[in-house]
Amino acid sequence: MDLESVRQERSKWMTWKNIAPLREAIDTLPNLKITFTQGDTVTLRSDEEINIPELEKIARMMMPWRKGPFDLFGLFIDTEWKSDQKYNFLRPHFNLSGKKVADIGCNNGYYMFRFLEDAPAKVVGFDPSALFKSQFDLINHFVQSDIVYELLGVEHLPFYEEKFDVIFCLGVLYHRSDPVAMLKALYNGLEKDGELYLDTFIIAGDEPYALCPSESYSKITNIYFVPTLKALENWCIRAGFKTFEVLGTVVTTSDEQRKTDWIESQSLEDFLDPDDTSKTVEGYPAPVRGYVRLKKG
Ligand SMILES: C[S@@+](CC[C@H](N)C(=O)[O-])C[C@H]1O[C@@H](n2cnc3c(N)ncnc32)[C@H](O)[C@@H]1O
Repeated sequence: MDLESVRQERSKWMTWKNIAPLREAIDTLPNLKITFTQGDTVTLRSDEEINIPELEKIARMMMPWRKGPFDLFGLFIDTEWKSDQKYNFLRPHFNLSGKKVADIGCNNGYYMFRFLEDAPAKVVGFDPSALFKSQFDLINHFVQSDIVYELLGVEHLPFYEEKFDVIFCLGVLYHRSDPVAMLKALYNGLEKDGELYLDTFIIAGDEPYALCPSESYSKITNIYFVPTLKALENWCIRAGFKTFEVLGTVVTTSDEQRKTDWIESQSLEDFLDPDDTSKTVEGYPAPVRGYVRLKKG
C-alpha cells in the first residue's frame, strides 16, 4: 500500500471537508452477499471476490479510525480504541429487543452495528462528523442494515421527528460547554419511560464539584467539565431525570486506547505524565470514566 498516495487522496476531502471523493469511492465497491458477525470485532465475510488493496485504500482515505475494531473480509481495521471494552462493560445492563434506540455521538456506528444482535425495532445514530459518517457508510455499504445515521448533534435531539425508548450517549458530555443543557436535550429525546446510558470522564470525590481545565485535558482542547459523580448526579436531576444509577467506573488504559497505524495523531500514552501515569500531561487526574443509567419516568 502506497500510503503517500493515499495521503494525497485524503487531502482532497480534508482541505474543504468535502466528502464527495469518499462517497464516490464507496460507490465503486461491489455489492456482495455477506455474513456479518457482531463479536468484539465487527466482522464481515463473503464467498465472493473483493479487491482488498482497493478496499484498504478507501478505508485509509477515511483515517483516523477511532472506534472499532472491524474486520472487512480479512482487512483488519485496528482502531485507536478497542470499543468492545466499553460495549462489553455496558452489555449486561441493557436489552434492546423491539426498542427504538438512539446512539448520540455514534462516531462510525461500531456500537450500533453491535446493537443489531438484540433485534431492536429501530436504530438511529446522531453525529455531526461527515468523516465518521463516511466510515459508517463504507461498512453499511456491505451490511445493508436499516440503521439511520443523521448528521446531527445532541442539541438537535429535542426537535427530532421521534422519541426513543433507549438512548446511549457515550463520551460526549465532557465536550459540551453546557452539560445541563445537553442532559435536558437527551431527556427530551426520550419516550416517557425511556432510559439513558451515559459515560463521561469523572474525578474522584464526594462533593458536587467539577474540574474546569484551563486549555486542555489530556491534550484534548474541547473538554469543558470533568465532574465528580455527585456533581454529575446533580446535573442529571436538574435536567429532569428521576433516577441516577452508577453502573461503574473504569480507568482508561493503553490496552483500551492506543496508537495504531489507523490513526496518525497521538494517543493515550502521549496524554499522560510519563513520570506519573495517574496524571495527565497538564497535571490533572488521569482519565477515569463513570458509567450511569438514568430513567426519565
Ligand atoms: C469521544 S467520541 C465518542 C464516540 C463514541 N460515542 C464512544 O463513546 O466511543 C465523541 C463523538 O461525539 C461526536 N460529536 C461531536 N459533536 C457532537 C454533538 N454536538 N452532538 C453529538 N455528537 C457529537 C464526535 O464526532 C465523536 O464521534
